[in-house]
Amino acid sequence: MYILANWKNSLSLEDSKGLADGLYSRFIQQYHNINIVLFPDDVSIATVSLIFDSVSMVSVGAQDGPLGANTTLTGSISLSNLGKFCDYVLLGHSERRITLGETNEMIARKATLAIDVGVIPVICVNKEDGTEIDPHSGLKAQLESILNRIDSRSKFVIAYEPIDAIGTGISADPKEVKKIAGIIHETIFLSRKVKGSPHIPVLYGGSINDKNIKSFLSLEGIDGVLIGSAGLTADNFLRIIEKASDSQYLK
Ligand code: PGA
Repeated sequence: MYILANWKNSLSLEDSKGLADGLYSRFIQQYHNINIVLFPDDVSIATVSLIFDSVSMVSVGAQDGPLGANTTLTGSISLSNLGKFCDYVLLGHSERRITLGETNEMIARKATLAIDVGVIPVICVNKEDGTEIDPHSGLKAQLESILNRIDSRSKFVIAYEPIDAIGTGISADPKEVKKIAGIIHETIFLSRKVKGSPHIPVLYGGSINDKNIKSFLSLEGIDGVLIGSAGLTADNFLRIIEKASDSQYLK
């Protein structure tokens, strides 16, 4: 099971280090079926990654990846730093799709580059209900653009994050999330008929907290969660991990 925490640009370097130290000192090794991935900002990645160097259940990821291997791009993390410090990279978060106009094409390109350096992309998608940014960026188009580009044997993760559930305190209806997770799994299955294709985990994100996490982890087709604001203090995050570690949710 996956518990991902996106720290966005909410923490200073000192706060990120403080949070990582706080989690490190209180993590209990018995959570061995949970993959925890922390996504600090670029300035804090190396510091956080060093703190968890010897903790196998905790990985570190970048909040975005480079668009090209050899082109210079001001403001981008380098491909070599991505490969050195990160096991995962978050791509296509709706805040980036909306604010920066990131396209499916750009996201797919970043995903293939990340895979080339051994980093697993976590690709955020949203739904086709009028809240999408343009008619070509609904769920199916977002998935197909990735599936058309990524080799069928490569591993990636999909995070379904309805835009109206992000940062609002109002999570999506679990029934709807189960339905969309089914559509995502089916779309992936139909496109990857190659023997030995890895299981592609599907996560839910949007206003997850310690009160509602169980209703999402118990859903068929949901392999974990992507957490934003509830992951910014050690107390809140550990309460969530505690709930998630209840063995009946471990998948
Ligand atoms: P939230 O953020 O948990 O604060 O809604 C989730 C996200 O942006 O990934």
